[in-house]
Amino acid sequence: MDKHLSKYVLYFALLALSGFVFLLWNITTVENWNCQTASTFYQLQNNIQSVLKTSERLLPVALNYSYCSRFGQQPIKEEALEERYLLKFISWPEAPVLGLPLRQSSDPAQSYFIIQDSLDLHVGGQLVVKVYVNNFLGQPKRHGGDFLVARLHTPELGAGVVGLVHDHRNGSYTVFFRLLWPGVVTVELTMVHPSEAVMVLRRLREEQSDRVFFKSLFRSGYLSETTICNLCLPVKHQPLCNYTDPQTGEPWYCYKPKLLDCDTRINHSKGGYKKYLLKLYESQYFQSDVNIKIPLRAAGIDSVTVLSAVKSTVTRGIPYTYVKSKKRRLEYNPSGFYLRGLWRPLNGVVMRQFNDSSAITQCLRGKNVYMFGDSTVRQWYEYLVARVSEFKELNFQSPKNVGPYMAVDTDHNIVLRYSCHGPPIRFTSVSSAELHYISNELDSLRGGSDTVVMISIWSHFSTFPVQVYIRRLRHIRRAVLRLVNREPATLVLIRTANPQELDPDSSLFNSDWFSQQLDVVLRVMFKGLNVRFVDAWEMTLAHHHPHQLHPPPAIISNMVHFILSHICPVRKKKRRPKLMQG
Ligand SMILES: *[C@@H]1O[C@H](CO)[C@@H](O)[C@H](O)[C@H]1NC(C)=O
Ligand SMILES: *[C@@H]1O[C@H](CO)[C@@H](O)[C@H](O)[C@H]1NC(C)=O
Ligand SMILES: *[C@@H]1O[C@H](CO)[C@@H](O)[C@H](O)[C@H]1NC(C)=O
Ligand SMILES: *[C@@H]1O[C@H](CO)[C@@H](O)[C@H](O)[C@H]1NC(C)=O
Ligand SMILES: *[C@@H]1O[C@H](CO)[C@@H](O)[C@H](O)[C@H]1NC(C)=O
Repeated sequence: MDKHLSKYVLYFALLALSGFVFLLWNITTVENWNCQTASTFYQLQNNIQSVLKTSERLLPVALNYSYCSRFGQQPIKEEALEERYLLKFISWPEAPVLGLPLRQSSDPAQSYFIIQDSLDLHVGGQLVVKVYVNNFLGQPKRHGGDFLVARLHTPELGAGVVGLVHDHRNGSYTVFFRLLWPGVVTVELTMVHPSEAVMVLRRLREEQSDRVFFKSLFRSGYLSETTICNLCLPVKHQPLCNYTDPQTGEPWYCYKPKLLDCDTRINHSKGGYKKYLLKLYESQYFQSDVNIKIPLRAAGIDSVTVLSAVKSTVTRGIPYTYVKSKKRRLEYNPSGFYLRGLWRPLNGVVMRQFNDSSAITQCLRGKNVYMFGDSTVRQWYEYLVARVSEFKELNFQSPKNVGPYMAVDTDHNIVLRYSCHGPPIRFTSVSSAELHYISNELDSLRGGSDTVVMISIWSHFSTFPVQVYIRRLRHIRRAVLRLVNREPATLVLIRTANPQELDPDSSLFNSDWFSQQLDVVLRVMFKGLNVRFVDAWEMTLAHHHPHQLHPPPAIISNMVHFILSHICPVRKKKRRPKLMQG
């Protein structure tokens, strides 16, 4: 603790110093201006003290989230009920003891899995795997909560599917895999985090929800100031600018600049990531090569041979028996699987391959395509613009990676647009005029059969309590409902979260555990509505490529083909489709 404290002191001293250097630089710049600015200069001088304080303030003050309740509207009764339901839905087993020494925490290297005997290793059947988690001393764990992910794959066939992990809360887990192609299949189990690390992530999410902080530049004439911004801020320090969205009530605040008005906000950007978030014992649970995303070994064999389906009847690549056995107990119905590197959805849509650009422009002919959200939906825009030469990008001098972007194909009457979601967004610099909430954007769309809306909003919420995400999705859901009510033919696609590469630092901000929790909330909140999910979670996890926040082209291409298959579905035949060849 002492060590951390002294680090802090040093840090603040450095910050204060840099603030002073910045101020001196400011003053000399001011001096180079003409006398009109002289009064400003004196004003600045008079504010030396406060400006110094301002720069200290550029690190957020530790925040107790109970402050935040009055920084946004309170949920009404039904909303509160839904919130409670959702939180229960994503509840995670708690470790009975906090502050366990590393040696007693879950050790992926000492944990293992066993493939259960199965009589039905046919396509359409199910493979069951037991997992036993041990600590570093090789002793079995007696509680659950380890974050495991599972995949079944056949590298030679470019095949993969996600498994469902069931936590028995006693140190053992059962994993269910759907068998979807014949051949030798290999089980892959990964401990993303030990349960002890998940407890830390949970603590951070509630107590350090400002561990990613934001800032805004305010400017008027020659004067400019930067202050800290967030969903809520401790009020005792100084006055706030309240940028709460009048339409949705989504809260957003910045500290008021010393000299400038709240109206002079120019842009928004990521402020930074707080450091020293962990106690010493906590940091031991986050070690690359020790307990972050470590594969478990098999006790015995790790692969089995799957035989062709009993009835070798295969419809559209979906094993017939799979469709028939849906009623079985404790089964996992994945949303799709890879075979020969191509995603095969199991949720009804027939996958088409749009392998040349004319197939894509034919499909999108006459469409207005709107992509709203984070950089993971921007990848689709970039994919299309890079591969389809007919799409001409308009240059708005938009900041790189931030947008807004627009591309058109005037021959086929296609418009593609991308714009980012509203704060919190960790982009380098978004003009404050471009901070739009997705729900408001949706309200401004006419909609119709020529409109395709794609939404991706998850990653920038990972550091906040889940309630913040629920509130945001609630606004988006309402706007989606209004849109499809206005124009039922509007196609709305929602991209789910995906796992990503993790190291000790990024785990604290972007862990797959946060993403997965948000992902479950998203799916539950939009379930049963007239929207389609693009299951980025399974498409990334089932793929052989290492996890990346921005999945590689091989995965993006599958997502885009999946989306286009929804926009331009294969015409339905009256009878059951013919058997697929090969
Ligand atoms: C936050 O503040 C509330 C009330 O002021 C208090 O009850 C709670 O213990 C505090 N939480 C933390 C983590 O400090
Ligand atoms: C854990 O729970 C499962 C399911 O209830 C049970 O089958 C298994 O035997 C238990 N394991 C231990 C070690 O208690
Ligand atoms: C900010 O403004 C909104 C809407 O005008 C209001 O409901 C909210 O209470 C204000 N926040 C604070 C902290 O005053
Ligand atoms: C497109 O892909 C399909 C299926 O993979 C293939 O049959 C067809 O020949 C391809 N067309 C072109 C133009 O490459
Ligand atoms: C903010 O806006 C100004 C002026 O438009 C621009 O020069 C600057 O790069 C932007 N970003 C940041 C982080 O200040």
